[in-house]
Amino acid sequence: MANVKKSWDKIARHYRKRYEISTEIVHYGPLCPGEDKLGLLGNIKGKKVIDLGCGCGQNAIALAKMGAKVTGIDFSEGQIGEARELASKHNQSIDFETGDISDLSFLPDSKFDMAISACAIAYVEDIESTFKETSRILRPGGTFILSDMNPLQYIIDENDYGLEFNNKYPFEPILIKWGWEFDELENTPRFQHFVRSISNYFNTLSDSGFIVSQIHEPQSTLKTPHLGFSREIMEEYDYIARHIPITFIIVCRKP
Ligand SMILES: C[S@@+](CC[C@H](N)C(=O)[O-])C[C@H]1O[C@@H](n2cnc3c(N)ncnc32)[C@H](O)[C@@H]1O
Repeated sequence: MANVKKSWDKIARHYRKRYEISTEIVHYGPLCPGEDKLGLLGNIKGKKVIDLGCGCGQNAIALAKMGAKVTGIDFSEGQIGEARELASKHNQSIDFETGDISDLSFLPDSKFDMAISACAIAYVEDIESTFKETSRILRPGGTFILSDMNPLQYIIDENDYGLEFNNKYPFEPILIKWGWEFDELENTPRFQHFVRSISNYFNTLSDSGFIVSQIHEPQSTLKTPHLGFSREIMEEYDYIARHIPITFIIVCRKP
C-alpha cells in the first residue's frame, strides 16, 4: 500500500486542480447530487465531525462552513498539504491530520458526533477495522455517512448501442489496479482499489456495530450540480450516469 500513498502524494496538486470539487456544498461523489439536494446531514452546527480520507479537504471546508468543528484525516501528506492550503484560503480553521483510517488509534473513544467519508473506503484494504475504528471514535448515537462508487459502475459499460455487461459481479471484493494519467506528470502513478458489493458494505457495517438506516443510489445527470467533475468529463459519463447510479451512500448510526 505504501506506493499507493506515494501516488496520492504525487497527484495531490493536479487532482485538486483537475476536479474542481466544491468547497460550498458537501459532495458524495462525481455526478452524484450533493448535500443541497439530498439533505442527509441535518443541523451540524457546533457538532464534532470527522472526514475520513478527506483528500484535498473540500468536504471538510464545506462542513466547517456549515458550522461544524471539523477534523480531516488522510494518509497522504500531499493531500493533507493541499487541504491545509485550501482551508486557509477559505479562512476555515480545521484540524487536518495525517493518518491511516483503518487505524485511528491516535484518536480517543467517543470523540465525534458524526463521521463522513466520500469515495475513500474503496481504497482501503481492511474495511472491518476501518468501520470498527469509526464506531469507536463516535459517541453513542453518532452518525456515519459514507459514499463510494457503485459496484454497477464496474459491471456495466457503455457501447455504441447502449449498455453492456463488462465484468462479473463482485461476489467477493475484487482488487483493481490501474494508472491515473495527468499531463503534468511524466510517469503514470499507479493506484489500486476494491470493488465491493453493497451487501458487503452493509454487513461489515452491521458486524462493526452500526445500524444502517438508509441506502441511497441517486440518479445523476448533467443537471446535477457541478460537484467534482469538470463539465467535459461529466459529458463523457452522462449517458451511463442517466442509466445506473454512479455512487451509493450509506447512512448508519452507532447505537
Ligand atoms: C478519491 S479520494 C477522495 C477524497 C475526498 N474524500 C473527496 O471526496 O474529495 C480518496 C482519498 O482517500 C485517501 N486514502 C486512501 N486510503 C486511505 C487510508 N487507508 N487512510 C487514509 N486515507 C486514505 C487518499 O489519500 C485520497 O485522498
